[in-house]
Amino acid sequence: MRTQVAIIGGGPSGLLLSQLLHRQGIDTVVLERKTKEYVLGRIRAGVLEAGLVDQMRTAGVSERMEAEGILHRGTVISYGDAQINIDFQAHTSKSVMIYGQTELTRDLYEAREAMSGNLVFGVNKVEIKDADTNAPHVTYEINGSMHRLDCDYIAGCDGFHGVSRQSIPKTVRHEYEKIYPFGWLGVLSETPPVHDELIYASSDLGFALCSMRNAQLSRYYIQCDLSDSPENWPDDVFWDALKRRIPEEHADVLITGPSIEKSIAPLRSFVCEPMQWGRLFLCGDAAHIVPPTGAKGLNTAASDVHYLSQGLVQFYQSGETAAIDAYSAKALERVWKAERFSWWMTSLLHRFPDQNAFDFRMQQAEVAFLRDNPNAQAVFAENYVGLPY
Ligand code: PHB
Repeated sequence: MRTQVAIIGGGPSGLLLSQLLHRQGIDTVVLERKTKEYVLGRIRAGVLEAGLVDQMRTAGVSERMEAEGILHRGTVISYGDAQINIDFQAHTSKSVMIYGQTELTRDLYEAREAMSGNLVFGVNKVEIKDADTNAPHVTYEINGSMHRLDCDYIAGCDGFHGVSRQSIPKTVRHEYEKIYPFGWLGVLSETPPVHDELIYASSDLGFALCSMRNAQLSRYYIQCDLSDSPENWPDDVFWDALKRRIPEEHADVLITGPSIEKSIAPLRSFVCEPMQWGRLFLCGDAAHIVPPTGAKGLNTAASDVHYLSQGLVQFYQSGETAAIDAYSAKALERVWKAERFSWWMTSLLHRFPDQNAFDFRMQQAEVAFLRDNPNAQAVFAENYVGLPY
């Protein structure tokens, strides 16, 4: 089989890239290890930056998102007794959109299928071959038989554990990593959200986040030990812990109910440089991970997809490779800024096991500065709604 761009990974990055390229007449094949049901069963974040909302429009897949997504013009940060309302609209004239990654992925699958996009599921033993030559190809196995996909370019959208990053020789790759000494216990419940904006809360007991998917579906998180397990958190224990970490006025009106999902995620910052090797380009989690504080994961994957799709469109329209040659440098510049914001927000709002009294005072002073300084709030807002592409 031959295509112009082989896309490894059928998550949101791979699908968005495939859809954007299709709209420009560029042929792709998407290879996915799991089934569509598996991909759609994963619960991920739900805050879209304005730039990703625009890309969904450009990709022609925004109809359901516009109808069902909820615009948020600000967010609440609480730290002990301090409550800060950050008004994104006032500072940036932009909002974020609440729309689950699962829903966005579903819309992209529907669009690709409606346009007879070539999506191959259940693909094993993927190997990237000759990416540093002019004849790259991908080999893979389905149901015991081997296949070969020849292409001009390969997009590695296969996540942190995928093969794409590992295909860049170790001598070329530099990896930067920070592991945080805690996790997030997340609960999804069919209850109305406690507030009409997200609440990022830091208390003596640790971090908590009140988020949502829609008017009847809430997503809550609390900081927990890395060694913890969801079985240690029956619903009533979870709700009690959450209430004790968020401001009283919200705790008092929190509507609780049975959880429909409960899981623990570790927190990690990670960047791989470069994001390109020959004709292989990494996008999203294949190249970088952020801790979820600030909701930058999917959004940063989307900015990679933007730069890569623009580079590929330029090449196929004019034969010019300047933009694809600059892909890694351009993408990384924005990636590092998202890494910085996620790291900063994580450091500000969590309780660290080794935190001493000085570190604690530093958090308090930083929060007081944010509370009292409109410029600091503007900087927060600018980062949260998403830096320009
Ligand atoms: C979520 O809704 O799952 C969510 C929202 C904001 C974050 C992280 C996760 O910063």
